[in-house]
Amino acid sequence: MLDLGGIGANCCMPIWHARCLLSCAGLCQFQNFQKVCCRTSESFFSGIFVERTSNTVFSASSPRPRRVLDGYRDNSAMHHTQSLLPRDAIVNLRASKIREVANAGIGRDDVLTFWFGEPDEVTPDFIRTAAADSLARGETFYSHNLGLPELRETVASYLSQLHANPHATITSDNIAITSAGVNALSLAAQCIVSPGDHVVCVTPLWPNLVEIPKILSANVECVSLEFGERGWQLDLDKLLAALTPNTKMLMVNSPDNPTGWTLTRDEQQAILARCRQHGIWILADDAYERLVFDAHLGASGCAPSFFDISDAHDRLVSANTFSKSWLMTGWRLGWLVAPAPFIEQLGKVIEYNTSCSPVFIQRAGDAAIRGGDAVIARTQARFRIARDHLCAALNALPGVHAPPPPAAMYAFFKVDGMKDSLAFCKRLVTDYGLGIAPGAGFGEEGEGYLRWCFASELPRLDDGIARFKAGLAGLR
Ligand SMILES: Cc1ncc(COP(=O)(O)O)c(C=O)c1O
Repeated sequence: MLDLGGIGANCCMPIWHARCLLSCAGLCQFQNFQKVCCRTSESFFSGIFVERTSNTVFSASSPRPRRVLDGYRDNSAMHHTQSLLPRDAIVNLRASKIREVANAGIGRDDVLTFWFGEPDEVTPDFIRTAAADSLARGETFYSHNLGLPELRETVASYLSQLHANPHATITSDNIAITSAGVNALSLAAQCIVSPGDHVVCVTPLWPNLVEIPKILSANVECVSLEFGERGWQLDLDKLLAALTPNTKMLMVNSPDNPTGWTLTRDEQQAILARCRQHGIWILADDAYERLVFDAHLGASGCAPSFFDISDAHDRLVSANTFSKSWLMTGWRLGWLVAPAPFIEQLGKVIEYNTSCSPVFIQRAGDAAIRGGDAVIARTQARFRIARDHLCAALNALPGVHAPPPPAAMYAFFKVDGMKDSLAFCKRLVTDYGLGIAPGAGFGEEGEGYLRWCFASELPRLDDGIARFKAGLAGLR
């Protein structure tokens, strides 16, 4: 039985989903099943340590439910001295520096923003119509945990065409629909990672990937790309050396946010071989696989994928999203691909996180994939032009080095002499009305760099470049 009484009054964030809220509360406070009340403990939200325990209490030492006294037990001696913080792993998470810069511009509508990875274009009409039609039909109910069967089929057949590989056929049994790409990553990590596990990431990287395993009390080792004449490159030997029998999972985002670095087929082969050798799970974040600009990497309109070379026995999970290629950031829809036995178990984890994605959003996703080839082709062409335009303008500025990235939607560029990218970005917002992301937000090696999302019309980019020029002159 769920009793959310008291939460609404005490919680300061709008909560869109009661199950998600409980899941967050669980991940924040109760890593080892210390004590969870089925009727929500008010302590977590209000700081008053009063357990309403007329129901069942679970504990690590007695995993089977046991009954406790009815009514209220007021631990008043304890309640002044207890920490009101969530567990240490949460306190130690890095807050997003991108958000920190964005917060500096809150309430201002004169700031031109390129800080998030978000196209400036509204979602195409036919996708929005599919959602509206679904609502008009009254599709306002829960769906299966793993998503609508027809959408799972659509995703499976889309991926099978993209990565035709007779050794690893993708069917709907391999697909789960998730509430956005970030939720897909989080669910996959929850299924793979235990406290104390060792996880390896290639950085600079979108901070969410590095922080998600830490929520689960895993240890994350970052292997840094290196910046040179040809942009960001992987030292493959360094990565392979980090993949040991002690490694539980490799998280790799190729094409990478923020650098656009993309794995070559040879690198993928070597990584897959090493992961097979040690039984390491690969969690591939494929959010940008369709946004490839260099023909030698993406001849088929898609970045090299582990699915092209894997077989049915590989410990391979891929997270993906509708946000970027189909211009659907605000819809919060994504998917996971994994071995069928993994997906079967994943249903339970989805139940305890969000239960399912909204049906009308799933209908929009189905329409997007079925009718979206032209959208993707146009988006690829538009972003390539925007990339070239922005990088040429940045490279014309003294002390700025912006090699055009081979993929994704960001220029991740170096500014000579800039020591504190966070402070620099905040001043750009407050004094020059320009919102871009600080390189330090993507890992230590990102300090001295800035990230600019170029998924934008050219005149908007030009306005931003003029502001950046002024900022560079003023802040150096
Ligand atoms: C690398 C990467 N993965 C996943 C996502 C998830 O996107 P969403 O949560 O909007 O589906 C993003 C979004 O910026 C991203 O940059």
